[in-house]
Amino acid sequence: MNPINQTIQLANDVRMPVLGFGTWHLKDGEIAYQAVLHALKCGFRHIDTAIVYQNEASVGRAIRDSGVPRDELFITGKQPPHIKHEKGVVRMFERSLKNLGIEYFDLYIINAPRPFGETEGDYFEENVTAYKTLEQLYRDERVCAIGVSNFTERDLDNILSNCDIVPHVNQIGYFAGKTDDALVTYCNDKNIALQAYSPLGNGYLLPNPVVQQIAAENDMTPAQVCLAYVVQKGLAPITKASSIEHITSNAQVNQELTSQQLSMLDALDEDPRVFD
Ligand SMILES: NC(=O)c1ccc[n+]([C@@H]2O[C@H](COP(=O)([O-])OP(=O)(O)OC[C@H]3O[C@@H](n4cnc5c(N)ncnc54)[C@H](OP(=O)(O)O)[C@@H]3O)[C@@H](O)[C@H]2O)c1
Repeated sequence: MNPINQTIQLANDVRMPVLGFGTWHLKDGEIAYQAVLHALKCGFRHIDTAIVYQNEASVGRAIRDSGVPRDELFITGKQPPHIKHEKGVVRMFERSLKNLGIEYFDLYIINAPRPFGETEGDYFEENVTAYKTLEQLYRDERVCAIGVSNFTERDLDNILSNCDIVPHVNQIGYFAGKTDDALVTYCNDKNIALQAYSPLGNGYLLPNPVVQQIAAENDMTPAQVCLAYVVQKGLAPITKASSIEHITSNAQVNQELTSQQLSMLDALDEDPRVFD
């Protein structure tokens, strides 16, 4: 079945659509507006947003104009990773809701354990403070599920040891050739659902000869192959496209890969260009 019509049940029984539409690098204004409007028209029901993408107003306008009832949508928002104190977290949460013109988030996650660009430091105390603030927003029913993004096993251990609610979701970079199997096993064991961002490897995976070969064998596009791979590995892909043609075909992942094709993709080396 096309993953656009499937959902994953989170640990708190909230249902999350398997296929998400990402909004990073969609230029604010007509580009972001038309892309999100078209994604919703094609059947996407999960929209991944962040205040740092600087396009929430256009994304929200598309959501409203789409006519899709709010309760049929799953909207994810993200806490900027350089703000970890309670007041700042609440302020960013409120601002994103206002920008998007919505009353609540389906999922709100800490975007990263450390501020963007920083590779040093655990930020353990700061992440506990930020996550406890999300727990309070969850208890206040401002958000249906809470989680983290780019958190390693150590980052998650810190949250599990010091907070009450096991994150419902961890959103990680994941695609054929970049599969952190240890982290996936850890999250599966703790019932933390995994969202896979950049499932097409930012687009770099698409010309890969193995991906191309499987696409030809199955009469699929290379992007559909990459999305099917992530879904069949048990993660929920969040893909982005600005091209109307790309959005339309990404919404039609109608075919499964064979176990042999999955193994061929498992064996890919990571493309060093991704995330440069
Ligand atoms: N939590 C985090 O730290 C984090 C980090 C990165 C991303 N994300 C989220 O994940 C989303 C997706 O990540 P992403 O943008 O890196 O990755 P992606 O979906 O792996 O790749 C997007 C790129 O692939 C191209 N593309 C899409 N569909 C295509 C198709 N059918 N044929 C050919 N090219 C196609 C797009 O081109 P066009 O735009 O030209 O159509 C775009 O250049 C983001 O938008 C964001 O919401 C989260």
